Amino acid sequence: MEDSKRKVAGRFDLASQTYDEVPLRFMDHHAQALVGAGEIAPGMRVLDVATGTGKVALLAAERVGARGRVTGIDISPGMLAQARRKAKELPVEFFEMDAETLRFSDESFDAVLCGFGVFFLPDMLRGMREMWRVLRPGGRVALTTWRPGAFEPMGEWTLAWLERHGIARPPVPSEPWMLLEQPEHLELLLERAGFQERRVVTEPYGYNMAPEDRLRITLTTAADRLRLLPSEDQQRFREDYLAEANRTGAPEGHWLEVSALIGAAVR
Ligand SMILES: C[S@@+](CC[C@H](N)C(=O)[O-])C[C@H]1O[C@@H](n2cnc3c(N)ncnc32)[C@H](O)[C@@H]1O
Repeated sequence: MEDSKRKVAGRFDLASQTYDEVPLRFMDHHAQALVGAGEIAPGMRVLDVATGTGKVALLAAERVGARGRVTGIDISPGMLAQARRKAKELPVEFFEMDAETLRFSDESFDAVLCGFGVFFLPDMLRGMREMWRVLRPGGRVALTTWRPGAFEPMGEWTLAWLERHGIARPPVPSEPWMLLEQPEHLELLLERAGFQERRVVTEPYGYNMAPEDRLRITLTTAADRLRLLPSEDQQRFREDYLAEANRTGAPEGHWLEVSALIGAAVR
C-alpha cells in the first residue's frame, strides 16, 4: 500500500475507537440522506465504498432485506472491526480493500454508495471509475462530501494551536475534503468518470452542542495529530479547547457546522 494510504488507514484506525460516539451523530444523519439519494430498495446488491464503521452499509442492509446483499469495503482494519461488530444478522459483509482497486467483477452491483470517502483517495477519478465499472448499466451511484466551513471555526483553531506546540500544519488544503466542497467539482468528477443524470444538492446540517461534546469530535477527527503531543500538552490542549469553545459559543451551545453535498448519478 502507498504511504499516503497507509497514513489515512492509520488515522482512521485511531479514530475508530470513538467514531460511533454520540457527539458524532451527524454522520448518522448524512448516512440516512445518502441511502435515500441512492434509492436503495429491497433485493438490491449494494456496495458501500469507504464504509468506515459501516453506518451507511448497515442502513442499506436494513433496506435491501433478506433478498438483497450489501458489501462494505475500507482500508482501515480498525474501522472495519467496529463495522463487523454491529453487523449481527443483517445481509452485509465487510472487506479490507482499496477503493482505487476494487476486487469485484464488472457490473456486479445495482447501487454504489460512498459517504465522505472519495476525497481521501490520492486519485479520486480512478476511484470513481472503479465505482462506475462495478455498477450495472442503469445503476445509481451516490456520494457525500463536506460543504465549505465544515467543522469550523474549531478546525482551524486546532491546527493553529498544534502549530504553536510544534506540530506542523498539513500542506494546503489542510483537510482532503476541501478539494471537493464545491458542487461543480463533484459534478465534474461524476461526469469525467462517465456517469449520466448527475445531480448535486446541498444537505444543510448542524446543531448546537456542549463544548465538551465539541471537544469529543475533535479528539476523534484529529486523533492522529494529537497523539504526537507529549501527555502534558494533550491535557493543556483539552483545557485550551474548552476555554475557546466556551468563549466563542452562544449560551445555547457551540454550533457544529456539518453541511454536506450529496452527488447522485446513473451509469
Ligand atoms: C470519514 S470516514 C467515512 C466512513 C463512512 N462512510 C461514514 O459515512 O461514516 C472515511 C473512510 O474512508 C476510508 N478510506 C480512506 N481511503 C480509502 C481507500 N483508499 N480505500 C478504502 N477506504 C478508504 C477511511 O479508512 C475511513 O474509514
